[in-house]
Amino acid sequence: MTTPALSAREVKKVYRPRNRPEVPALKGVSLEVGRGERVGLLGRNGAGKTTFLKIASTLLRPTSGEITIFGHDVMAHPEEVRPLIAVVPQEGKPFFHLTPREQVYTYLRTRGFSRESARTRTEEAIEQMGLGEVADRLNVTLSGGQMQRAMVATIIATEAPLLFLDEPTIGMDPFARRGVWDSLRRLTRKGSTILLTTHYLDEAERLADRVAILQDGRIQVVGSVRHVARRAGVKTTIKFTAPQPVLAGAVATPAGLAVVLRGEVASCQTDNSGPALRELLDWAAANGLGDLDDLSVEAPTLEDSYLQLVSNGGPQ
Ligand SMILES: Nc1ncnc2c1ncn2[C@@H]1O[C@H](COP(=O)(O)OP(=O)(O)O)[C@@H](O)[C@H]1O
Ligand SMILES: [Mg+2]
Repeated sequence: MTTPALSAREVKKVYRPRNRPEVPALKGVSLEVGRGERVGLLGRNGAGKTTFLKIASTLLRPTSGEITIFGHDVMAHPEEVRPLIAVVPQEGKPFFHLTPREQVYTYLRTRGFSRESARTRTEEAIEQMGLGEVADRLNVTLSGGQMQRAMVATIIATEAPLLFLDEPTIGMDPFARRGVWDSLRRLTRKGSTILLTTHYLDEAERLADRVAILQDGRIQVVGSVRHVARRAGVKTTIKFTAPQPVLAGAVATPAGLAVVLRGEVASCQTDNSGPALRELLDWAAANGLGDLDDLSVEAPTLEDSYLQLVSNGGPQ
């Protein structure tokens, strides 16, 4: 079996600020991220996401527990881990007195890339992040979203085996966000692994193979968006309209589907939309409702699941 990109076992972190109460930020987090995966770490402000990323990227020591990166222990051998990772820190800022082009190039050189390779990678990253027009302006003159793009460009240019991105698209416009998504997908196609945090659940939904929801220092659920929806108990809604007398006069409701009528709109909820749709269409045909032309199927979004799990305190 190949070693996972990241393997965390029972990681705990208690902050002990001077003259203030202790903060138990992580209470035993175990997580495995496979090579080439994109995993989204989600959770409310203060859930412990940044703390986890800092520990995994050798910037902070855990109180207990263990994290290995491609088999290297982050505590015992940080020097083995650092060349394998690259980090977009939360609220990081580029060097104000450099331009985006200089920033990316300089960072690549400090990581040991040759002049030639650093130059090529810099141009690619500038292009991918749409920074062409501002590439030679001082970072200090850039807008917040452009600075953030410069930060992401710096990190993606490394094509490091494992990338940590803490809220990478914060402040970006929708086009820039898509640029980041495309770049991250391209990186994983080339073999990199990505662990990112985000509060944009549509972003997590489109980008992440799996999400892990942190709540109060613990991982509450981890899995695909579908898995999380099942755990949250959120359902797909099927809706259609029909003249009310027809609906009211229908002989029987479809087996196992509770159809709720509101005026001419009928709706029902299901975990399993395939069989439910077949059932519904058979029922419609038997009741003279035709093909239910305006039938709509709304799958639950990750946001639906998240709100359910997090506000409920989640499954035990
Ligand atoms: N240096 C620190 N000292 C004391 N408490 C901290 C420190 N850093 C973070 N915390 C606390 O740890 C908890 C988790 O924070 P953080 O990991 O930043 O959460 P998130 O990134 O999910 O918003 C919060 O309660 C936060 O206030
Ligand atoms: Mg954070």
